[in-house]
Amino acid sequence: MKTAFITGITGQDGSYLAEHLLHQGYKVVGMMRRTATPSTERIEGVLDQIEIAHGDLLDQSSLMRLFDEHKPDEIYNLAAQSFVHASFYEPIHTGEVTGLGVARILEAMRLVVPEARFYQASSSEMFGKVSESPQKESTPFHPRSPYGVAKVYAHWATVNYRESYDLFCCSGILFNHESPRRGLEFVTRKISEGVAAIAFGQQEDIALGNLDARRDWGFAGDYVEAMHLMLQQDTPEDFVVATGETHSVRDFCDIAFARVGLDYEKFVKIDPRFYRPAEVDLLLGDPSLAKEKLNWTPSTPFKELVHLMVDSDVSRRLDEGRTLQAGELPPSLRG
Ligand code: NAP
Ligand code: GDD
Repeated sequence: MKTAFITGITGQDGSYLAEHLLHQGYKVVGMMRRTATPSTERIEGVLDQIEIAHGDLLDQSSLMRLFDEHKPDEIYNLAAQSFVHASFYEPIHTGEVTGLGVARILEAMRLVVPEARFYQASSSEMFGKVSESPQKESTPFHPRSPYGVAKVYAHWATVNYRESYDLFCCSGILFNHESPRRGLEFVTRKISEGVAAIAFGQQEDIALGNLDARRDWGFAGDYVEAMHLMLQQDTPEDFVVATGETHSVRDFCDIAFARVGLDYEKFVKIDPRFYRPAEVDLLLGDPSLAKEKLNWTPSTPFKELVHLMVDSDVSRRLDEGRTLQAGELPPSLRG
């Protein structure tokens, strides 16, 4: 039985990847940092099937100790300070975790388990101010946030450990991917949760920033499959993972509000606090290489993704736990 070691196990992707790898027959070890209130909500369903290991990307010795203890065959580095907006206010911390943290884990792998295979959670945010569309593996990087800068460092560290030491290191350049487990601070979940709260009379409006930003949004459950496939190749390589479609934040609002029979224009307020010092205006990925070499394709269209997220936030509120059906409004909206 192969052992997979996942950092960021408590996050959105960590939870989906753990489920996927358990299905594939792996032993899963998930790394958690010590916090005053442990955040195991997303992995409640699999906690009894995985092993939790305590460590931190800020602490090199913890990574070396854990690799020595668990001897992983595959290492998925999903841990990061992942919120772009926060990175403008905590640039040093973001650099330490999201950037240098990757050098720490690569060095721990080189010294303790050099035969392991390594996946780095790289990001479309590295393309930033894009020089071509769609963006592919060869598109130059021009990051626009401390987060993006840290991810570029981490990406090149991953490529360098492959080239310098012949380690099996892959960088997955993933475009935005969402789900009902998405953190509440990210725009998609902020909207889906806000729509549900408004539908139930618990909130009056949603304050957002730039509605014209465009992203290539896919479903997280699909994207973790691509991570696994990358580590099953004969040779390590980097891949863009995306849907090949782009939509604006405004489009997301429109579909999300329409799902509960409301017009977004009446409920969305613009608040300058949610603008960023520098914006990434447009992301659109070209997943051709992943399709060709990994045989990976996304299976969740944009509208379906928006509905999935709104329905989840609505159904959590429904007494009976029923999922909202199209055309059936939550009780508070019924005449
Ligand atoms: P997420 O939900 O924010 O999860 C981040 C994880 O990192 C959490 O488990 C968090 O633990 C952990 N973490 C933070 N600081 C840590 C530290 N110092 N040591 C150890 N663990 C630490 O992020 P996600 O959406 O699942 O994304 C997973 C990865 O993919 C991240 O690296 C992200 O930057 C990258 N990525 C995401 C997307 C996307 O659209 N979702 C796209 C491209 C790349 P706590 O629970 O303790 O905070
Ligand atoms: N969060 C947030 N909140 N974003 C807003 C808001 C708001 O109120 N209003 C507008 N936006 C816009 C942002 O300015 C941005 O252009 C877009 O919505 C998406 O923001 P986020 O959902 O915070 O995601 P992100 O694209 O900045 O970053 C995510 O995707 C990256 C991949 O491209 C994160 O998951 C990163 O970790 C990931 O690497």
